[in-house]
Amino acid sequence: VTLLLAIQPSGGNWSPPAWHERFSARLPGRALPIADVDVFDPAAITAVAAWKPPPGLLATLPNLRVIFNLGAGVDALLADPTLPQHVPIVRVVTADLTRRMTEYIVWQVLDQHRRGPMLRAAQARGDWLAKDQWAAHDMRVGLMGLGEIAQDAAAVLVRLGFQVSGWSRTPRRLDGVTTYAGADGLAPFLATTDILVAALPLTPQTRGVLNRRLFEGLARDGKLGAPVVINVGRGGLHVEADVLACLDEGILGAAVLDVFEVEPLPAASPLWRHPRVTLTPHNAADSDPDAISGYVAGQLLAFEAGQPLVNVVDRRRGY
Ligand SMILES: NC(=O)c1ccc[n+]([C@@H]2O[C@H](COP(=O)([O-])OP(=O)(O)OC[C@H]3O[C@@H](n4cnc5c(N)ncnc54)[C@H](OP(=O)(O)O)[C@@H]3O)[C@@H](O)[C@H]2O)c1
Repeated sequence: VTLLLAIQPSGGNWSPPAWHERFSARLPGRALPIADVDVFDPAAITAVAAWKPPPGLLATLPNLRVIFNLGAGVDALLADPTLPQHVPIVRVVTADLTRRMTEYIVWQVLDQHRRGPMLRAAQARGDWLAKDQWAAHDMRVGLMGLGEIAQDAAAVLVRLGFQVSGWSRTPRRLDGVTTYAGADGLAPFLATTDILVAALPLTPQTRGVLNRRLFEGLARDGKLGAPVVINVGRGGLHVEADVLACLDEGILGAAVLDVFEVEPLPAASPLWRHPRVTLTPHNAADSDPDAISGYVAGQLLAFEAGQPLVNVVDRRRGY
């Protein structure tokens, strides 16, 4: 198998030569051409390690047998209409990525629960702000999506004592978590959620799901006074204008956003300086080339040995 590295250079860990170095160490002696850098015979390529590859590129590889997406979300890849239909796509599911996501979700839930933004603002004013403090079991955290990431975060949140619920497409059972599923399950799920965490994939069904109508369905009788939304999935899940309007109208108390429709977030976006927005630059979980190249190389070697691929994307579902 000849593995093509088709990685859009985009700062941070997304440097194609750095990935090449990791893959070379894991797959010694192999040809590992880098798209847009090395000259290669398209017919020789049987596998691709891809992150936001140039649209159209994968369609030019007649003998492609497997696509390894170097992240958990495959929305960018599936957006290419020329993507070969018959080739399996494997996404990233590693303990490293999952734990980083859990850290971020728990960090941001705790920050809202313990009133971090309010206390930091009080410190900046030199204000000794003594306020009531409530227990974790007074706070209802609702996870939208109950996949690899949300399940791991849920276990930690349950351990901390939060009331945890979750919503998914198909019914799920999780220890200590009240679960809801599908269109019928959404309203009761929202009605008992103070802090909403979106850990959904971006698909045609989930695009724009975090909108005014959904925010209006969140619980309004919680300790925080108004519900909070945390989006760690993809920017296309939330409608930015609705987030801003609902913050200003008090329908939302705060928003924590790691992902945006346009990234990097344009300098003109009012989100940057909104007093009730916490934003991070799509770094809830950095993609670690060591962990991910190990995961991909392991699957590639198993595939060559005739074993089935794991964590294969279901094209019909879109994730
Ligand atoms: N910000 C970051 O740095 C970062 C890092 C990694 C991942 N992510 C994002 O996180 C997303 C989730 O990752 P994951 O590994 O947890 O994915 P996953 O294991 O595929 O889980 C996805 C979950 O979403 C649910 N879901 C999908 N479509 C739905 C719909 N229409 N209605 C209700 N529920 C729906 C699924 O329901 P079922 O259980 O019924 O299948 C599943 O529970 C990724 O797709 C990616 O976009 C972001």
